[in-house]
Amino acid sequence: MSSMILCSTVTVRSQLTSDFYQNTCPNLLQIVRREVKTAIKNEMRMAASLLRLHFHDCFVNGCDASILLDGSDSEKFAVPNRNSVRGYDVLDTIKSAVESACSGVVSCADIVAIAARDSVLLSGGPSWKVVLGRRDGLVANQAGALNGLPSPFENLGNITLKFAAVSLTITDVATLSGAHTIGLARCITFSPRLFNFPGTGPDPTLDTNMLTELQNLCPQNGDGNKTTTFDRNSNDLFDNHYFKNLLSGKGLLFSDQTLYSSSDAAVSLTKTLVESYSSDSTLFFKAFASSMIKMGNISPLTGSAGEVRKNCRVIN
Ligand code: HEM
Ligand SMILES: *[C@@H]1O[C@H](CO)[C@@H](O)[C@H](O)[C@H]1NC(C)=O
Ligand SMILES: *[C@@H]1O[C@H](CO)[C@@H](O)[C@H](O)[C@H]1NC(C)=O
Repeated sequence: MSSMILCSTVTVRSQLTSDFYQNTCPNLLQIVRREVKTAIKNEMRMAASLLRLHFHDCFVNGCDASILLDGSDSEKFAVPNRNSVRGYDVLDTIKSAVESACSGVVSCADIVAIAARDSVLLSGGPSWKVVLGRRDGLVANQAGALNGLPSPFENLGNITLKFAAVSLTITDVATLSGAHTIGLARCITFSPRLFNFPGTGPDPTLDTNMLTELQNLCPQNGDGNKTTTFDRNSNDLFDNHYFKNLLSGKGLLFSDQTLYSSSDAAVSLTKTLVESYSSDSTLFFKAFASSMIKMGNISPLTGSAGEVRKNCRVIN
């Protein structure tokens, strides 16, 4: 009796399943893996870009591929995404390949989730079982992208609140920030730390050699679009160097270094996690996989809600 109750509770809470397309698109996972491999071969950074795109999708209206919609309320033009999120064309390519094999069956939101998983795995990181069955949203939410996505200048408390708004914890903040072991960031996302950090002079939590290097790369009034690597040890490799860097003041963004160096009381938890992940990559990989599954479960549309878009950029 009690096990029956438990079963039905679980069904209601999570309607996504790993075998959702088993009969309708049996080769889905192979197709996406092949396409992500090709994209990464063309440009290694695409792994990072596809991972980030899934995050920016899930935080706005849930994981419903709303970020892929073009049009007047497009999330693509919200500040956290504009001139920043990449990979839209790669998703078009993956979607076409999937449509050729199984037309009208697989949602864009599921393709984004699989591509993010494959990107981490193909970069040397952990793998996990992607649960599927998300449907695509019918509306974009530009204001939601502006207000719901964390900013690199925010403090730990504010970032934690934005994660809490989608039912993620401060542990997920620290764990998922480990994604910044791959990919690039533009000067404008960290340059306030280099010169006129609130108070006087540069951010004191930034390593002084890295400070000089970044000041040369990103001078005041220079090109804010210039990019640099998050993880200066192993940029293309998904590993735990992000956390090792934080131990020595080498986090690139204010929001990165704050996980270790914040003055918020909550830092005691994130600091402990940073230390544990920096010394135990297996622990980090396991935690990352489980937080990614949680993130992929943010407010999915299921059943007959939403639709399966034919073209990820427009509703049917
Ligand atoms: C905790 C709050 C977070 C903040 C404030 C933040 C902020 C940023 C910023 C400012 C950039 C650089 C964008 C640019 O220069 O155009 C970036 C890049 C990136 N972020 Fe985050 N991020 C956060 C969490 C996450 C999470 C949860 C993930 C994925 C699970 C993620 C994955 C990435 C990746 C992979 C890149 C590099 C993308 C590329 O090279 O194309 N970030 N992030
Ligand atoms: C934190 O959020 C509050 C309320 O939105 C805002 O007024 C404040 O400027 C934010 N602080 C930082 C450092 O982003
Ligand atoms: C960055 O590039 C975009 C697109 O080319 C341009 O519109 C924008 O003004 C540039 N931003 C900065 C800070 O230079």
